[in-house]
Amino acid sequence: MNETYKLYVIDESGEEKRLGFKPMEYRNLMELVLNELYEEWGDCKGRAMCGTCHIEVLSGRPGDEMEPFEEQTLDGLPNRTSASRLACQISIDKSIDGMKFRILKDF
Ligand code: FES
Repeated sequence: MNETYKLYVIDESGEEKRLGFKPMEYRNLMELVLNELYEEWGDCKGRAMCGTCHIEVLSGRPGDEMEPFEEQTLDGLPNRTSASRLACQISIDKSIDGMKFRILKDF
């Protein structure tokens, strides 16, 4: 596999997947996970409005700080945790290399 960085995603079944990516290959984490794991994910296509790309950060810290509109959408989700983020608001770059996330898709 021709990749520069990697991250780990635990899907709804509890299975851990290793996803590799190159710089500038995807705009955000939602696009990477959508391409590698799901046929459909992220109903609002990355506008931080739907909450369907809900994930939990298990290790590491994304380079992107949370904006108020992301916070507002997360507040509306019943299964929000203290480590919740929207995958569409996390940039795909070296700052997330080696991080681990859990998909909180169903709510
Ligand atoms: S795709 Fe809708 S909030 Fe991320």
